Amino acid sequence: MLDTLDAQPPDALLALIKMYAADERADKIDLGVGVYRTNEGATPVFRAIKQAEQRLIDEQDSKSYLGPEGDTGFVEVLRPYIFGKDCQLTDRIGGMQTPGGTGAVRLAVALAAKAGVTRIHLGMPSWPNHAQILDDVGVETVPFRHATPDGTADLDAVLGAIRNAGPKDAVLLHGCCHNPTGIDYTDAEWGEIAKAFAETGVLPILDIAYQGLGHGMEEDVTGVRIVLDTVPEALVAYSCDKNFGLYRDRVGAFYMMAKEPAQLAAIVSNANALARANWSMPPDHGGAAVRVALSDAGMTQVWLDELDEMRARMRRVRDRLAAADNEVPGLGLAALAQQNGLFAMLPLSKEQITSLREDHAIYMAGSGRINVAGLHAGNTDKFIAALADVTKG
Ligand code: LMR
Repeated sequence: MLDTLDAQPPDALLALIKMYAADERADKIDLGVGVYRTNEGATPVFRAIKQAEQRLIDEQDSKSYLGPEGDTGFVEVLRPYIFGKDCQLTDRIGGMQTPGGTGAVRLAVALAAKAGVTRIHLGMPSWPNHAQILDDVGVETVPFRHATPDGTADLDAVLGAIRNAGPKDAVLLHGCCHNPTGIDYTDAEWGEIAKAFAETGVLPILDIAYQGLGHGMEEDVTGVRIVLDTVPEALVAYSCDKNFGLYRDRVGAFYMMAKEPAQLAAIVSNANALARANWSMPPDHGGAAVRVALSDAGMTQVWLDELDEMRARMRRVRDRLAAADNEVPGLGLAALAQQNGLFAMLPLSKEQITSLREDHAIYMAGSGRINVAGLHAGNTDKFIAALADVTKG
């Protein structure tokens, strides 16, 4: 039986981690997988999370089972950050903890499919795992163009996708810090998108994986809130991997917004059943640490301060790259200053990306995506010089 299975290629992005680790060149640069790095190139445990973990060790008295919904305290403390302190939709929104943002997206897609969705419109390029999850759940991916060549979002394309969607279609959008382009919709554009969703009744699936890493915790969810305030129903996937630095602890949340409060329990019960059949319940530790940190004003401030530092550092890198636009013409580096989050796409050929890796020890995704957090004061000049080298006529 098992000998009928065809070999599958390893995930290209995760394979890059191993290739980078095996490279012995001292000046190598990792711009591959999306993790934040400090000016020293480290991905440390957040200071607030260290404190929260210590408190958990001291005070946690059981690791007995919870339920498919995970740590409900964790799900609740995140709510004001995502939906706003004065959110009027509370009795229409239910949530649960998931294994990372991937688990949340998986649950959103599976729940949408259970409700009858057969196709999901996805702005391309997107995080490669989006299409893989859709495929695995058995939902068709319908692509539309996410970005224009000038480095801004293609509003007409997303509006067209929503307005032309069929009765069994949903549309998946990145809440902020678009992966892989860094190109987000403006608030005015979100307003038009929300209106299109409301007028057509198409189900929005909103994936928020980088809150706080674009312009700020509030600013980064303005668009999502505009949509939620306007549409009858929606699904929201949330990741704490980046904004709490909890990558391998797998910390995410999934929220469902019902048309009517009375419908919420049935919707949530379906998500619980899907989670039970998939992973039974999410891993506890990281979510519990977030709950502890956000339940303590001091730790919360420490966390917000660290997030501010990260965001400011990435802005400096973006500004430095944008300032090098003339040194490396044709790559559109100037636009990076207007874009958000960890990622940007560079229009490099496969050969140029291979040359960056082989000749300059610079590792980036084969799509041309770079993780700007992999750059810092000590390696950005080398990166710009390498770009100039591989693109020179
Ligand atoms: C990325 O896009 O690099 C991250 O979201 C990590 C992942 O799981 O792909």
